[in-house]
Amino acid sequence: MEHRALSRLAVPAVAALLALTTGCTGGTVQGRPGASGLRDPYFPKAGNGGYQVDHYALDLDYDPPPASGGGTPTSGQLNATAVITARAEQGLSSFNLDLSGLKVEGVTVQGEPARHNRTGNELTVRPAEDLKKGEVFRVEVDYGGKPKALVDADSSKEGWIVTKGGPDGGGAVAVGEPIGSMAWFPGNHHPSDKATYDITLTVPHGYEALSNGELRSRTDTGDGRTEFAWHSPEPMASYLATAVVGPYKVTTGKTASGVSVYNAVAPGEEAGSAGTLARLPEMVEWGSGRFGPYPFTTAGAIVLPKGSLTYALETQTRPVFPGAPQEEELVLHELAHQWFGNSVSPKSWKDMWLNEGFATYAEWLWAEDHGGAGAQKHFEAFLAGDTDVDEAADSDWDAFPPADPPGPEHISGNPVYYRGAMVLHRIRQEVGDAKFFDLVRGWAADHRHGNASTAEFTAYAEERTGHDLKKVWDVWLYGQDRPR
Ligand code: TRP
Ligand code: ZN
Repeated sequence: MEHRALSRLAVPAVAALLALTTGCTGGTVQGRPGASGLRDPYFPKAGNGGYQVDHYALDLDYDPPPASGGGTPTSGQLNATAVITARAEQGLSSFNLDLSGLKVEGVTVQGEPARHNRTGNELTVRPAEDLKKGEVFRVEVDYGGKPKALVDADSSKEGWIVTKGGPDGGGAVAVGEPIGSMAWFPGNHHPSDKATYDITLTVPHGYEALSNGELRSRTDTGDGRTEFAWHSPEPMASYLATAVVGPYKVTTGKTASGVSVYNAVAPGEEAGSAGTLARLPEMVEWGSGRFGPYPFTTAGAIVLPKGSLTYALETQTRPVFPGAPQEEELVLHELAHQWFGNSVSPKSWKDMWLNEGFATYAEWLWAEDHGGAGAQKHFEAFLAGDTDVDEAADSDWDAFPPADPPGPEHISGNPVYYRGAMVLHRIRQEVGDAKFFDLVRGWAADHRHGNASTAEFTAYAEERTGHDLKKVWDVWLYGQDRPR
Protein backbone atom coordinates (compact mmCIF):
# COMPACT_ATOMS: atom_id res chain seq x y z
CA MET A 1 0.00 0.00 0.00
CA GLU A 2 2.74 2.36 0.93
CA HIS A 3 4.48 1.57 -2.29
CA ARG A 4 1.38 2.42 -4.35
CA ALA A 5 0.82 5.68 -2.46
CA LEU A 6 4.37 6.69 -3.15
CA SER A 7 4.12 5.98 -6.84
CA ARG A 8 0.89 7.99 -7.10
CA LEU A 9 2.86 10.92 -5.76
CA ALA A 10 5.87 10.21 -7.86
CA VAL A 11 4.12 10.12 -11.23
CA PRO A 12 2.81 13.73 -11.17
CA ALA A 13 6.11 14.91 -9.71
CA VAL A 14 8.04 13.33 -12.58
CA ALA A 15 5.52 14.70 -15.06
CA ALA A 16 5.94 18.19 -13.63
CA LEU A 17 9.71 17.87 -13.83
CA LEU A 18 9.45 16.68 -17.43
CA ALA A 19 7.17 19.60 -18.23
CA LEU A 20 9.78 21.98 -16.84
CA THR A 21 12.66 20.52 -18.78
CA THR A 22 10.96 19.62 -22.07
CA GLY A 23 8.03 22.01 -22.11
CA CYS A 24 5.53 19.17 -22.71
CA THR A 25 2.65 17.77 -20.66
CA GLY A 26 0.41 15.05 -21.98
CA GLY A 27 0.67 16.14 -25.61
CA THR A 28 -0.29 19.82 -25.20
CA VAL A 29 2.71 22.00 -25.95
CA GLN A 30 3.48 24.36 -23.11
CA GLY A 31 6.03 27.06 -22.86
CA ARG A 32 9.28 27.31 -20.99
CA PRO A 33 11.38 30.42 -20.35
CA GLY A 34 13.40 31.79 -23.27
CA ALA A 35 17.15 32.09 -22.63
CA SER A 36 18.30 35.41 -21.12
CA GLY A 37 21.31 35.66 -23.41
CA LEU A 38 22.64 34.23 -26.66
CA ARG A 39 26.02 33.28 -25.17
CA ASP A 40 27.97 35.53 -27.44
CA PRO A 41 31.66 34.82 -26.75
CA TYR A 42 32.21 38.47 -25.68
CA PHE A 43 28.76 39.57 -24.47
CA PRO A 44 27.03 36.40 -23.21
CA LYS A 45 23.95 38.25 -21.92
CA ALA A 46 23.39 40.24 -25.12
CA GLY A 47 20.28 39.17 -27.01
CA ASN A 48 17.74 36.60 -25.90
CA GLY A 49 16.72 33.10 -26.87
CA GLY A 50 13.38 31.59 -27.84
CA TYR A 51 12.18 34.18 -30.34
CA GLN A 52 13.28 36.29 -33.31
CA VAL A 53 12.10 39.83 -33.97
CA ASP A 54 10.56 40.68 -37.35
CA HIS A 55 9.87 44.36 -36.74
CA TYR A 56 10.37 47.15 -34.21
CA ALA A 57 7.99 50.13 -34.19
CA LEU A 58 9.55 52.65 -31.82
CA ASP A 59 7.72 55.82 -30.89
CA LEU A 60 9.98 58.21 -29.02
CA ASP A 61 9.01 61.58 -27.61
CA TYR A 62 12.08 63.47 -26.42
CA ASP A 63 12.81 66.77 -24.70
CA PRO A 64 16.44 67.72 -25.34
CA PRO A 65 18.22 68.95 -22.21
CA PRO A 66 19.90 72.37 -22.22
CA ALA A 67 23.65 72.02 -22.74
CA SER A 68 24.30 74.28 -19.76
CA GLY A 69 22.50 71.94 -17.36
CA GLY A 70 19.38 72.93 -15.44
CA GLY A 71 16.26 73.20 -17.58
CA THR A 72 12.78 72.02 -16.71
CA PRO A 73 11.95 68.74 -14.95
CA THR A 74 11.18 67.15 -18.32
CA SER A 75 14.54 68.15 -19.88
CA GLY A 76 16.30 65.03 -21.09
CA GLN A 77 13.11 63.01 -20.66
CA LEU A 78 12.14 60.26 -23.12
CA ASN A 79 8.57 58.95 -23.23
CA ALA A 80 8.39 55.95 -25.47
CA THR A 81 6.48 52.97 -26.75
CA ALA A 82 8.10 49.98 -28.43
CA VAL A 83 5.88 47.62 -30.40
CA ILE A 84 7.83 44.50 -31.22
CA THR A 85 6.57 41.85 -33.63
CA ALA A 86 8.36 38.57 -33.10
CA ARG A 87 8.10 34.87 -33.82
CA ALA A 88 8.40 32.25 -31.07
CA GLU A 89 11.07 29.65 -31.84
CA GLN A 90 9.92 27.44 -28.96
CA GLY A 91 6.94 27.31 -26.65
CA LEU A 92 7.45 30.31 -24.35
CA SER A 93 6.17 30.75 -20.80
CA SER A 94 8.33 33.87 -20.52
CA PHE A 95 10.93 35.69 -22.56
CA ASN A 96 13.45 38.47 -22.07
CA LEU A 97 14.16 41.81 -23.70
CA ASP A 98 17.41 43.72 -23.08
CA LEU A 99 16.85 47.18 -21.59
CA SER A 100 19.25 49.31 -19.55
CA GLY A 101 17.97 52.03 -17.25
CA LEU A 102 14.60 53.73 -17.91
CA LYS A 103 11.33 52.78 -16.24
CA VAL A 104 8.91 50.27 -17.68
CA GLU A 105 5.35 51.52 -17.24
CA GLY A 106 3.54 48.56 -18.74
CA VAL A 107 3.85 45.57 -21.06
CA THR A 108 1.23 43.82 -23.13
CA VAL A 109 1.57 40.65 -25.19
CA GLN A 110 -1.07 40.05 -27.86
CA GLY A 111 -2.95 42.99 -26.36
CA GLU A 112 -3.19 41.41 -22.89
CA PRO A 113 -1.36 42.93 -19.91
CA ALA A 114 1.71 40.84 -19.12
CA ARG A 115 3.69 40.50 -15.91
CA HIS A 116 7.21 41.82 -16.11
CA ASN A 117 10.21 42.36 -13.94
CA ARG A 118 13.72 43.64 -14.33
CA THR A 119 17.01 42.13 -13.18
CA GLY A 120 20.02 44.07 -14.38
CA ASN A 121 19.55 44.72 -18.09
CA GLU A 122 17.07 41.87 -18.52
CA LEU A 123 13.38 42.70 -18.75
CA THR A 124 11.53 39.42 -18.25
CA VAL A 125 8.01 39.30 -19.68
CA ARG A 126 5.50 36.63 -18.67
CA PRO A 127 2.53 36.67 -21.04
CA ALA A 128 -0.93 35.83 -19.68
CA GLU A 129 -0.92 32.81 -21.97
CA ASP A 130 2.06 30.79 -23.12
CA LEU A 131 3.21 31.42 -26.68
CA LYS A 132 3.29 28.47 -29.04
CA LYS A 133 6.29 27.52 -31.11
CA GLY A 134 6.02 29.33 -34.47
CA GLU A 135 3.49 31.85 -33.18
CA VAL A 136 3.91 35.44 -34.34
CA PHE A 137 3.26 37.72 -31.39
CA ARG A 138 3.12 41.41 -30.61
CA VAL A 139 4.70 42.92 -27.53
CA GLU A 140 4.08 46.50 -26.50
CA VAL A 141 6.37 48.11 -23.93
CA ASP A 142 5.56 51.54 -22.54
CA TYR A 143 8.64 53.03 -20.97
CA GLY A 144 10.46 56.26 -20.29
CA GLY A 145 12.93 58.21 -18.22
CA LYS A 146 16.25 59.87 -18.87
CA PRO A 147 18.30 57.60 -21.10
CA LYS A 148 22.01 57.40 -20.34
CA ALA A 149 25.38 56.83 -21.93
CA LEU A 150 27.02 53.47 -21.18
CA VAL A 151 30.75 52.98 -20.80
CA ASP A 152 32.13 50.32 -23.14
CA ALA A 153 34.53 47.55 -22.24
CA ASP A 154 37.19 49.68 -24.02
CA SER A 155 36.01 52.75 -22.00
CA SER A 156 34.53 54.58 -24.99
CA LYS A 157 30.89 55.70 -24.68
CA GLU A 158 27.80 54.30 -26.34
CA GLY A 159 24.05 54.31 -25.68
CA TRP A 160 22.27 57.67 -25.42
CA ILE A 161 24.68 60.59 -25.55
CA VAL A 162 23.68 64.20 -24.96
CA THR A 163 25.23 66.61 -27.46
CA LYS A 164 25.69 70.38 -27.62
CA GLY A 165 23.85 72.95 -29.71
CA GLY A 166 20.20 73.67 -30.34
CA PRO A 167 17.84 76.53 -29.55
CA ASP A 168 17.77 75.54 -25.88
CA GLY A 169 21.29 74.21 -26.01
CA GLY A 170 21.03 70.46 -26.21
CA GLY A 171 20.49 67.48 -28.47
CA ALA A 172 21.25 63.76 -28.40
CA VAL A 173 22.67 60.88 -30.41
CA ALA A 174 22.06 57.16 -29.91
CA VAL A 175 24.89 54.78 -30.85
CA GLY A 176 24.72 51.06 -30.19
CA GLU A 177 27.94 49.24 -31.00
CA PRO A 178 28.17 46.73 -29.45
CA ILE A 179 25.45 46.80 -26.77
CA GLY A 180 24.38 50.46 -26.43
CA SER A 181 20.96 50.15 -28.05
CA MET A 182 19.54 48.67 -24.84
CA ALA A 183 19.97 52.18 -23.35
CA TRP A 184 17.11 53.53 -25.50
CA PHE A 185 14.81 50.70 -26.51
CA PRO A 186 13.95 47.19 -25.32
CA GLY A 187 14.87 44.47 -27.79
CA ASN A 188 16.80 41.42 -28.79
CA HIS A 189 20.09 43.27 -28.79
CA HIS A 190 22.42 40.91 -30.62
CA PRO A 191 23.51 41.29 -34.27
CA SER A 192 22.25 37.79 -35.10
CA ASP A 193 18.62 38.93 -34.82
CA LYS A 194 17.99 41.48 -37.58
CA ALA A 195 14.61 43.15 -38.10
CA THR A 196 12.95 45.98 -40.00
CA TYR A 197 12.24 49.24 -38.14
CA ASP A 198 9.90 52.18 -37.94
CA ILE A 199 11.42 54.84 -35.71
CA THR A 200 9.20 57.83 -34.99
CA LEU A 201 10.75 60.76 -33.15
CA THR A 202 8.76 63.65 -31.72
CA VAL A 203 10.77 66.70 -30.65
CA PRO A 204 10.17 70.39 -29.91
CA HIS A 205 9.91 72.84 -32.81
CA GLY A 206 13.31 74.03 -33.93
CA TYR A 207 14.88 70.60 -33.77
CA GLU A 208 15.54 68.11 -36.49
CA ALA A 209 15.20 64.40 -35.67
CA LEU A 210 17.13 61.85 -37.70
CA SER A 211 17.25 58.12 -37.89
CA ASN A 212 17.90 55.25 -40.28
CA GLY A 213 16.23 54.72 -43.64
CA GLU A 214 13.60 56.82 -45.36
CA LEU A 215 11.81 59.82 -43.91
CA ARG A 216 8.16 58.90 -44.46
CA SER A 217 6.59 62.00 -42.94
CA ARG A 218 7.34 65.14 -41.01
CA THR A 219 4.26 66.38 -39.15
CA ASP A 220 3.49 69.37 -36.96
CA THR A 221 1.66 67.83 -34.01
CA GLY A 222 -0.06 71.16 -33.24
CA ASP A 223 1.36 71.46 -29.73
CA GLY A 224 4.76 72.91 -30.48
CA ARG A 225 6.32 69.66 -31.58
CA THR A 226 7.31 67.96 -34.81
CA GLU A 227 7.00 64.25 -35.50
CA PHE A 228 9.54 62.60 -37.82
CA ALA A 229 8.62 59.09 -39.07
CA TRP A 230 11.62 57.09 -40.30
CA HIS A 231 11.28 53.72 -41.98
CA SER A 232 13.91 51.00 -42.56
CA PRO A 233 12.56 48.49 -45.09
CA GLU A 234 15.69 46.34 -45.04
CA PRO A 235 16.66 44.23 -42.01
CA MET A 236 18.92 45.95 -39.49
CA ALA A 237 21.02 44.72 -36.57
CA SER A 238 19.96 46.68 -33.48
CA TYR A 239 23.47 48.08 -32.87
CA LEU A 240 23.11 50.01 -36.14
CA ALA A 241 19.91 51.80 -35.15
CA THR A 242 20.27 55.50 -34.37
CA ALA A 243 18.25 58.48 -33.25
CA VAL A 244 19.72 61.96 -33.46
CA VAL A 245 18.08 65.14 -32.21
CA GLY A 246 19.44 68.67 -32.62
CA PRO A 247 19.44 71.82 -34.72
CA TYR A 248 20.87 70.12 -37.79
CA LYS A 249 21.07 71.54 -41.26
CA VAL A 250 19.57 69.04 -43.70
CA THR A 251 20.51 68.66 -47.36
CA THR A 252 19.16 66.06 -49.75
CA GLY A 253 20.20 64.73 -53.12
CA LYS A 254 20.53 61.64 -55.26
CA THR A 255 23.39 59.53 -56.54
CA ALA A 256 23.83 59.02 -60.30
CA SER A 257 21.97 55.71 -60.10
CA GLY A 258 19.12 57.17 -58.05
CA VAL A 259 19.91 56.30 -54.41
CA SER A 260 18.53 59.11 -52.25
CA VAL A 261 20.98 60.99 -50.04
CA TYR A 262 19.93 62.69 -46.79
CA ASN A 263 22.66 64.52 -44.89
CA ALA A 264 22.39 66.38 -41.60
CA VAL A 265 25.16 68.60 -40.30
CA ALA A 266 25.46 70.25 -36.87
CA PRO A 267 25.80 74.06 -36.74
CA GLY A 268 29.39 75.08 -37.16
CA GLU A 269 30.39 71.90 -38.98
CA GLU A 270 28.99 72.85 -42.41
CA ALA A 271 32.12 74.35 -43.93
CA GLY A 272 34.36 71.54 -42.66
CA SER A 273 32.00 68.83 -43.95
CA ALA A 274 31.17 70.24 -47.36
CA GLY A 275 34.19 68.83 -49.21
CA THR A 276 34.10 65.23 -47.97
CA LEU A 277 30.28 64.91 -47.97
CA ALA A 278 30.15 66.20 -51.55
CA ARG A 279 31.93 63.00 -52.59
CA LEU A 280 29.46 60.66 -50.87
CA PRO A 281 27.22 60.10 -53.95
CA GLU A 282 30.29 59.21 -56.00
CA MET A 283 31.45 56.83 -53.25
CA VAL A 284 28.08 55.03 -53.30
CA GLU A 285 28.48 54.48 -57.04
CA TRP A 286 32.11 53.42 -56.69
CA GLY A 287 31.18 50.92 -53.96
CA SER A 288 28.40 49.52 -56.13
CA GLY A 289 30.98 48.84 -58.83
CA ARG A 290 33.50 47.24 -56.51
CA PHE A 291 31.20 45.33 -54.10
CA GLY A 292 27.89 44.97 -55.97
CA PRO A 293 24.66 47.00 -55.74
CA TYR A 294 24.36 49.37 -52.75
CA PRO A 295 22.20 47.35 -50.31
CA PHE A 296 19.81 50.10 -49.17
CA THR A 297 17.31 52.54 -50.68
CA THR A 298 18.91 55.58 -49.08
CA ALA A 299 22.30 56.90 -47.97
CA GLY A 300 23.73 59.91 -46.17
CA ALA A 301 25.63 61.12 -43.15
CA ILE A 302 24.99 62.78 -39.80
CA VAL A 303 27.72 65.15 -38.64
CA LEU A 304 27.46 65.65 -34.86
CA PRO A 305 28.73 68.66 -32.96
CA LYS A 306 32.48 68.34 -32.42
CA GLY A 307 33.41 66.52 -29.23
CA SER A 308 30.18 64.58 -28.81
CA LEU A 309 31.77 61.19 -29.54
CA THR A 310 35.30 59.80 -29.92
CA TYR A 311 34.52 57.72 -33.01
CA ALA A 312 32.39 57.53 -36.13
CA LEU A 313 29.81 54.74 -36.41
CA GLU A 314 28.30 53.08 -39.48
CA THR A 315 24.67 53.45 -38.33
CA GLN A 316 22.57 51.90 -41.09
CA THR A 317 22.17 54.02 -44.22
CA ARG A 318 23.28 57.13 -42.32
CA PRO A 319 26.60 56.94 -40.42
CA VAL A 320 27.33 59.41 -37.61
CA PHE A 321 30.58 61.40 -37.49
CA PRO A 322 31.99 63.21 -34.45
CA GLY A 323 32.34 66.60 -36.11
CA ALA A 324 33.22 67.27 -39.73
CA PRO A 325 35.01 64.25 -41.23
CA GLN A 326 38.44 65.60 -42.13
CA GLU A 327 39.41 62.75 -44.43
CA GLU A 328 37.40 61.28 -47.27
CA GLU A 329 38.71 57.83 -46.24
CA LEU A 330 36.63 58.04 -43.04
CA VAL A 331 33.45 58.73 -45.01
CA LEU A 332 34.39 55.89 -47.35
CA HIS A 333 35.05 53.55 -44.39
CA GLU A 334 31.59 54.09 -42.89
CA LEU A 335 29.99 53.78 -46.32
CA ALA A 336 31.81 50.48 -46.97
CA HIS A 337 30.25 49.13 -43.75
CA GLN A 338 26.86 49.40 -45.46
CA TRP A 339 27.90 46.32 -47.48
CA PHE A 340 30.19 44.79 -44.85
CA GLY A 341 28.67 44.81 -41.39
CA ASN A 342 25.26 46.26 -42.13
CA SER A 343 24.01 44.15 -45.05
CA VAL A 344 26.31 41.20 -44.28
CA SER A 345 26.30 41.31 -40.47
CA PRO A 346 28.43 39.37 -38.02
CA LYS A 347 26.93 36.26 -36.39
CA SER A 348 28.70 37.10 -33.16
CA TRP A 349 31.03 39.82 -31.87
CA LYS A 350 33.95 37.50 -32.58
CA ASP A 351 33.34 38.15 -36.29
CA MET A 352 34.00 41.88 -35.97
CA TRP A 353 37.07 41.65 -38.25
CA LEU A 354 34.66 40.85 -41.12
CA ASN A 355 33.23 44.36 -40.54
CA GLU A 356 36.42 46.28 -39.89
CA GLY A 357 38.82 44.34 -42.10
CA PHE A 358 36.57 44.88 -45.12
CA ALA A 359 35.88 48.56 -44.30
CA THR A 360 39.61 49.23 -43.90
CA TYR A 361 40.42 47.32 -47.07
CA ALA A 362 37.79 49.43 -48.85
CA GLU A 363 39.77 52.55 -47.86
CA TRP A 364 42.89 51.06 -49.45
CA LEU A 365 40.93 50.16 -52.59
CA TRP A 366 39.42 53.64 -52.83
CA ALA A 367 42.94 55.09 -52.66
CA GLU A 368 44.12 52.54 -55.24
CA ASP A 369 41.37 53.64 -57.65
CA HIS A 370 41.92 57.38 -57.01
CA GLY A 371 45.63 57.85 -57.43
CA GLY A 372 46.65 57.15 -53.82
CA ALA A 373 48.67 54.39 -52.17
CA GLY A 374 46.98 51.12 -53.13
CA ALA A 375 46.37 48.01 -51.09
CA GLN A 376 49.78 46.49 -51.84
CA LYS A 377 51.49 49.71 -50.65
CA HIS A 378 49.42 49.72 -47.45
CA PHE A 379 50.14 46.05 -46.84
CA GLU A 380 53.90 46.61 -47.23
CA ALA A 381 53.76 49.77 -45.12
CA PHE A 382 52.30 47.83 -42.19
CA LEU A 383 54.95 45.13 -42.46
CA ALA A 384 57.66 47.82 -42.56
CA GLY A 385 56.05 50.15 -39.98
CA ASP A 386 56.16 52.93 -42.57
CA THR A 387 53.94 55.71 -41.20
CA ASP A 388 54.41 57.88 -44.31
CA VAL A 389 51.96 55.62 -46.16
CA ASP A 390 49.63 54.89 -43.21
CA GLU A 391 49.67 56.55 -39.79
CA ALA A 392 48.68 53.27 -38.13
CA ALA A 393 51.54 51.26 -39.71
CA ASP A 394 53.60 51.31 -36.50
CA SER A 395 50.60 50.64 -34.23
CA ASP A 396 49.98 47.35 -32.39
CA TRP A 397 48.22 45.94 -35.50
CA ASP A 398 49.97 42.61 -34.86
CA ALA A 399 49.02 42.32 -31.16
CA PHE A 400 46.47 39.50 -31.54
CA PRO A 401 44.81 37.45 -34.28
CA PRO A 402 41.90 39.39 -35.83
CA ALA A 403 39.51 36.44 -35.55
CA ASP A 404 40.29 35.97 -31.86
CA PRO A 405 40.45 39.23 -29.85
CA PRO A 406 41.58 38.44 -26.29
CA GLY A 407 38.52 40.09 -24.69
CA PRO A 408 35.50 42.36 -25.26
CA GLU A 409 37.67 45.47 -24.80
CA HIS A 410 39.63 44.44 -27.92
CA ILE A 411 36.85 43.92 -30.47
CA SER A 412 37.56 47.41 -31.91
CA GLY A 413 41.33 47.01 -31.52
CA ASN A 414 43.89 47.78 -34.23
CA PRO A 415 44.45 44.13 -35.29
CA VAL A 416 40.71 43.79 -36.06
CA TYR A 417 41.02 46.69 -38.52
CA TYR A 418 44.50 46.54 -40.01
CA ARG A 419 45.48 42.91 -39.72
CA GLY A 420 41.89 42.14 -40.77
CA ALA A 421 42.49 44.13 -43.97
CA MET A 422 45.85 42.39 -44.41
CA VAL A 423 44.07 39.00 -44.30
CA LEU A 424 42.01 40.14 -47.29
CA HIS A 425 45.11 41.33 -49.10
CA ARG A 426 46.84 37.99 -48.48
CA ILE A 427 43.86 36.27 -50.14
CA ARG A 428 44.17 38.65 -53.09
CA GLN A 429 47.89 37.84 -53.40
CA GLU A 430 47.12 34.10 -53.43
CA VAL A 431 44.20 34.11 -55.89
CA GLY A 432 44.79 37.17 -58.09
CA ASP A 433 42.57 40.18 -58.77
CA ALA A 434 39.85 38.53 -60.87
CA LYS A 435 39.08 35.80 -58.34
CA PHE A 436 39.51 38.17 -55.40
CA PHE A 437 36.93 40.70 -56.60
CA ASP A 438 34.60 37.89 -57.62
CA LEU A 439 34.92 36.60 -54.06
CA VAL A 440 34.18 40.03 -52.54
CA ARG A 441 31.10 40.56 -54.72
CA GLY A 442 29.91 36.99 -54.24
CA TRP A 443 30.23 37.28 -50.46
CA ALA A 444 28.23 40.53 -50.39
CA ALA A 445 25.56 39.08 -52.71
CA ASP A 446 25.17 35.65 -51.12
CA HIS A 447 24.84 37.01 -47.57
CA ARG A 448 22.99 40.21 -48.47
CA HIS A 449 20.78 41.33 -45.54
CA GLY A 450 21.90 38.29 -43.53
CA ASN A 451 24.52 37.20 -41.01
CA ALA A 452 27.78 35.35 -41.49
CA SER A 453 30.57 33.94 -39.35
CA THR A 454 34.32 33.75 -39.84
CA ALA A 455 34.11 29.99 -40.46
CA GLU A 456 31.55 30.62 -43.20
CA PHE A 457 33.84 33.21 -44.76
CA THR A 458 36.93 31.00 -44.84
CA ALA A 459 34.95 28.07 -46.31
CA TYR A 460 33.32 30.39 -48.87
CA ALA A 461 36.65 31.94 -49.89
CA GLU A 462 38.20 28.53 -50.59
CA GLU A 463 35.15 27.25 -52.43
CA ARG A 464 34.64 30.36 -54.53
CA THR A 465 38.30 30.77 -55.53
CA GLY A 466 39.22 27.08 -55.68
CA HIS A 467 42.36 27.79 -53.64
CA ASP A 468 43.55 26.15 -50.45
CA LEU A 469 44.00 29.14 -48.14
CA LYS A 470 44.73 27.27 -44.90
CA LYS A 471 48.11 28.98 -44.47
CA VAL A 472 46.51 32.43 -44.70
CA TRP A 473 43.99 31.51 -42.02
CA ASP A 474 46.57 29.84 -39.77
CA VAL A 475 49.11 32.65 -39.94
CA TRP A 476 47.12 35.83 -40.53
CA LEU A 477 43.65 35.21 -39.16
CA TYR A 478 44.20 32.88 -36.19
CA GLY A 479 47.98 32.95 -35.56
CA GLN A 480 49.22 34.53 -32.32
CA ASP A 481 52.61 35.56 -33.75
CA ARG A 482 53.34 38.58 -35.88
CA PRO A 483 53.17 37.34 -39.48
CA ARG A 484 56.32 37.82 -41.57
N1 TRP B 1 32.91 50.57 -35.72
C1 TRP B 1 33.25 51.97 -35.82
C2 TRP B 1 33.94 52.11 -37.18
O1 TRP B 1 34.96 51.53 -37.39
C3 TRP B 1 34.16 52.50 -34.76
C4 TRP B 1 33.84 52.22 -33.34
C5 TRP B 1 32.64 52.00 -32.78
C6 TRP B 1 34.77 52.21 -32.27
N2 TRP B 1 32.77 51.82 -31.43
C7 TRP B 1 34.05 51.96 -31.12
C8 TRP B 1 36.14 52.37 -32.22
C9 TRP B 1 34.69 51.89 -29.89
C10 TRP B 1 36.78 52.31 -31.01
C11 TRP B 1 36.05 52.05 -29.84
O2 TRP B 1 33.45 52.73 -38.05
ZN1 ZN C 1 34.65 50.48 -39.07
